[in-house]
Amino acid sequence: MHKIDIDLIEMTLDVMKYAIGRISATEHPIGKPKKYEELKELVGETVTEKGVGGEYAFNLWKEYLSKANVPVDHPRNLAFVPASPTRAAIMFDLVTSASSIHGAYWMEGAGGIFCENEAMKWIVSLTGLPEGAFGVFTSGGTAANLSAIVTAREHWREDETYKREKGLIITSIGAHSSIKAMAKVADVDILLVDSEERLTGADLRKTIDNLNFHQRKRLFAVVATGGTTNAGIIDDLEGIADICEKENIWFHVDAAYGGGALAADSVRHLFNGIERADSITIDPHKWMFSPYDCGAVIYKKPELAKNAHSQQGSYLDIFKDEGAHGFNPTDYQIQLTRRVRGLPLWFSLATHGTDRYKQSVERGIELAQIAGKMIEENPHVELVREPSLSCVLYRRKGWKPEDYTHWTYENHKKGFALVTPTKWKNGDTYETVSRFCFINPDTTEEDIRLILETMN
Ligand SMILES: Cc1ncc(COP(=O)(O)O)c(C=O)c1O
Repeated sequence: MHKIDIDLIEMTLDVMKYAIGRISATEHPIGKPKKYEELKELVGETVTEKGVGGEYAFNLWKEYLSKANVPVDHPRNLAFVPASPTRAAIMFDLVTSASSIHGAYWMEGAGGIFCENEAMKWIVSLTGLPEGAFGVFTSGGTAANLSAIVTAREHWREDETYKREKGLIITSIGAHSSIKAMAKVADVDILLVDSEERLTGADLRKTIDNLNFHQRKRLFAVVATGGTTNAGIIDDLEGIADICEKENIWFHVDAAYGGGALAADSVRHLFNGIERADSITIDPHKWMFSPYDCGAVIYKKPELAKNAHSQQGSYLDIFKDEGAHGFNPTDYQIQLTRRVRGLPLWFSLATHGTDRYKQSVERGIELAQIAGKMIEENPHVELVREPSLSCVLYRRKGWKPEDYTHWTYENHKKGFALVTPTKWKNGDTYETVSRFCFINPDTTEEDIRLILETMN
């Protein structure tokens, strides 16, 4: 299994050929899921005592299984937060896998971690955080948010007064579901300001003033969003920072999606106040064109994260020894063994330069503006709100929720597009609407026009 023979060499060439084809293709089919039973019928048993052989398994992958996925980089995949990894980043994802690097400790992964840190320096510079701020790459925004919440809670509990208190955090209903999920994991309560629009300093002030004595005692963090997933809304980071500083509360900004827009001059001012955060989440696998999976968590004072996350174990002591002389990413987030998942981003940044990143993010914002204009000019549809960052919410006049569902499935079934509905809170009710989220700079105005046409 670990030996080289001619079959292995042939297999390597086949896999490389496939990867080259995928990387260099300018068009990909959009792909469709199949039921488990259908896939099983097509593929049969693959994990057996003797194995079915690499060539056979790879053919199954090419023939059936790869086609049951929806590539996130399809230019008409505008659902969720799609992705659009650069070819350079994808290529270095292959190099990362082939290099077998343990990315937890400098002693083992110095070369890879060095590259990650160069990329991280650029990301940190976009935030405007003060000297000393730094971060690490995580498996995604969820892990970054959890790492930040746990750091905040541990720091809060350094004070004896709070040792036995269950923590409380405030965010808004616009926050990503991972904030609620991670509050559960960290066993902290969460209070949601009931607005999907921009969370302001005034909203936060009112919410804190309405807390009872014990709730206020338990409040240790506020999570603002730097680009909501649903609508691209950036909270009033300046106003929220003012209150967090005054009240001595940890200020976390979840910019998992919107963080890439820190590179875009046209919208950078909307993030003012982010430089006062205690921690920030930014996902390079969203708007920094990295392959999955690559998130990042950044701390104003990384030593607080180290206090919270550094793992102890006799077999680990040697890696922390001074002789290793380096930065150990494991100390700053929840994971021990880790892939150097920032390496593809580093290679892409080194290849293209940061200006190209700026241009590609600006294109996503521009596409949202273009889509907004097309919607305004089309009598069948209307904007639910002005486009924000690269998100556009719009309604098809007269449509019920089931019409959006049917339309989504039809477009997907045809292999044409993946555009999915969402809900927008309108007063006390939630309205089903359609949503675009632009990431891929290869999405064209024609793509948008054709998608809108399918609603006529
Ligand atoms: C604002 C925000 N935070 C957190 C997440 C979770 O990130 P991940 O899916 O990388 O764990 C997302 C994902 O869409 C997001 O948009």
